[in-house]
Formats: sequence, structure tokens, C-alpha cells
Amino acid sequence: MSSLTGMRPGAAGTADVTACRADFPALAQDINGYPLVYLDSAASSQVPMAVIDEIARYQSHDHANVHRGVHTLSHRATEVYENARTALQRFINASRREEIVFTRGTTESINLVAQSFCRPKLRQGDRILITHLEHHSNIVPWQMVCEQTGAELVVAPIDDRGDVSPDSVVALMDERVRLLAVAHVSNALGTVLPVRELAAAAHARDITVLVDGAQAVPHMPVDVQALGADFYAFSGHKMFGPTGTGVLYGREELLDAMPPYQGGGDMILEVRFDGTTYNELPYKFEAGTPNISGAAGLAAAVAYLEAIGMNLIAEHERQLLDYLTNKLAEVEGIRLLGMAPVKASVQSFLLDDIHPHDLGTILDHQGVAIRTGHHCAMPVMDRFGIPGTARASLGLYNNRADVDALTAALEKAREIFG
Ligand code: ALA
Repeated sequence: MSSLTGMRPGAAGTADVTACRADFPALAQDINGYPLVYLDSAASSQVPMAVIDEIARYQSHDHANVHRGVHTLSHRATEVYENARTALQRFINASRREEIVFTRGTTESINLVAQSFCRPKLRQGDRILITHLEHHSNIVPWQMVCEQTGAELVVAPIDDRGDVSPDSVVALMDERVRLLAVAHVSNALGTVLPVRELAAAAHARDITVLVDGAQAVPHMPVDVQALGADFYAFSGHKMFGPTGTGVLYGREELLDAMPPYQGGGDMILEVRFDGTTYNELPYKFEAGTPNISGAAGLAAAVAYLEAIGMNLIAEHERQLLDYLTNKLAEVEGIRLLGMAPVKASVQSFLLDDIHPHDLGTILDHQGVAIRTGHHCAMPVMDRFGIPGTARASLGLYNNRADVDALTAALEKAREIFG
């Protein structure tokens, strides 16, 4: 993988993660006459050459449809696609490759569980338990299945720091709760939830656990077995892979008992007008021609992350998030949102009474890319009584100079808005 040539030992004897910055071509450009400072990886991360190259290689040499053909290219495409599944299995430590279902992303993964796992099971009066900091994709699919079944959505509170107390979640785990669905990391506040502890408490009460891992997988080692997740959902485009790719991990026993989510080619063994038999796992859940080049790219992203090392990435981002939070705190007129004791990769803030969208626009004029608005987490904004926030989010390629550029741009925004 040529694009890891940028890795070199740092001053402290550890690898210098930010040396990898050179692997991301999109970062080497000017925006509005300033060098790009990309602080929006929670929305979508940039893509390294290793991933771009692998997609081009696959499309140029190996592309055909998977699973069906007897010809060489079909075999090659199938090998690429199935090797990607094995790479993902290893990356999150699933016990079997059949437990990795390729989807379009976290949203589709969660909808699959809502419709295929929950909908057939839920009865009037049953409950699904979530927390107040969830992304809309870990709220709306549950609201929909509750409407369809008469079940009820129950929401555990967050505190003023944006933290979730395990006790307050466990207190809501009564005998009516069938599923606990929680973020691993909050996209709006950066809070890291005590997933392992929550999963253990849920399992002790026979409650199935789904974890929305979209904001965790690019930033820390994830071991689905150690976490105790029954389902774990994540997206390729937040982990340096292509858009339109993602994974639903599900324990084999659960996936096996679930009906298909969509019907079509590849998910069947036999189709007759008097009845159809479904394919085995994971194909039962992968109707239609899959995103093969996307899977190739996603596997390249996994290889890229593994070559650097998730522990190294987590430590680099932990230090940089501390630096970011401390530097922001020094800016006059700043209000920081999301100050939970355990956080990852995200800092939300407001500056004076400047609307976050105006702030984002002024920052963009200085080459600084942040996200502004409700971040698909409107209930979080309601909780704090605000319409939205400005949010800086980190990726492995960010460094202190990026943070300094952000705070300098904020100072300039203060001057402009007087
Ligand atoms: N969920 C993405 C974000 O947090 C879009 O920005």
C-alpha cells in the first residue's frame, strides 16, 4: 500500500499519525485563497489515495457481477467482495464472516434491524429504549416501527454536560423493553457512551442491544464481542472509505432467525410461484447487485487504518481533542457544548450570539470547514434550547495547526460581527 509511505517515527518514538496527511489529496488544496483546514470528518471523512487507487484498480481490472458468473472476472469480483467481508470481520472482531452484512451505511443498517428484527416481534406495550443524544437515524426508524406495531419509544436523559449516566438508562430497563439502541459516540456532542456496561445490564434483563457505531469506528478500536453488541452499525464514508457503503454486524443466531429485509436477486436459494426459499447468511440480507467497488474501497480503508493502528489513532485524537477544547475555551465569547468526561473527536460550540450558519460561512471564507446546524440530532438542540451549534470534528489527519487556524478564524469572525 504505497500511500503509507508518509508514516514515520515521531519525536516521542511513536508513529506520527499526522504524517499520513499527505495520503489525502483533497486536503492539499486552497479554499477561498487559504489552505484547506478540514474539521468536518464527523459528517464525512476525506479519502486516502490507497482507497482511491483500489477502487480504480478494481474497476479497471476485476469488475463483473458477483456470486453468479462462471467466468474469470466474476470470480475475481466475488473474491474482492468476499475478501472485503473478511477484512471487516477482523476489523471489528466479529466471530464469523457471515455476521457482516454489507449495507449502504449506518442508516440502512439500523432500518434493517427495525424492520426485520423488531417489527415481527414487537407487540402493543413493548418498548424500545434509546437516549436523548441519538442521531436521527437512531430515532426515526424506531419511531416508525413503534407506529407500525403499537410499541413505545422511551428516551433516557442526558445531563448538562451531554453525558449519559448508566444508572438513568438502566432505571428505564423494565420488563417491557425489548431493545436498547444507543450511540457509541454522539455525533453532536462527542460523548462516548459506556456501551459495555449498558449492554451487560440489558442482557441481564433479556434486552437486545444495537449500537450505532458510526462515530466510533474511525476513532478507536472496536471489538463487537467485547462490547457485547448484538447489532453494531457503521458507515464507510466516515472511516475514510467510499459513500454508500456500510456494515450491519449482527450475532449469527439473531440474523439467522430474522426474515429478509428486501427481496430480489442473490438473497434466494430457489424461487417458485408457489414459494421461495431464502439464501443463507449474509446473502439473505443483500438483495440485488451490491456495491462491489464500494466494498473494495472499504476494505482498502480498513487496511489503511490497520496499518496505522487504531490505538495510535485513538491516542492522537485524544490529545488533539484536549488541545482543541482548551484552545476554544480561550476564545472570548465562546460557549462549549458537550463536556462529558469521556469524549471522542467532536467539539460543538457557539460564539457570542452569532448564528452557527453565519459563523460557518465566515470560517469557510478563511478556508476552515466545520459543520453547523442541528447535526441530525434535533432533540439534543432542544435539550440545550438552541437551534444548532458550530461543530469541529477531527480525523486522524488533523493536527494542532488546524486547531490554531480554527481559533484564529473565530477571532476574525468576532471582529467582523463586532
Ligand atoms: N451524521 C453526520 C454528521 O454528524 C451527517 O455530520
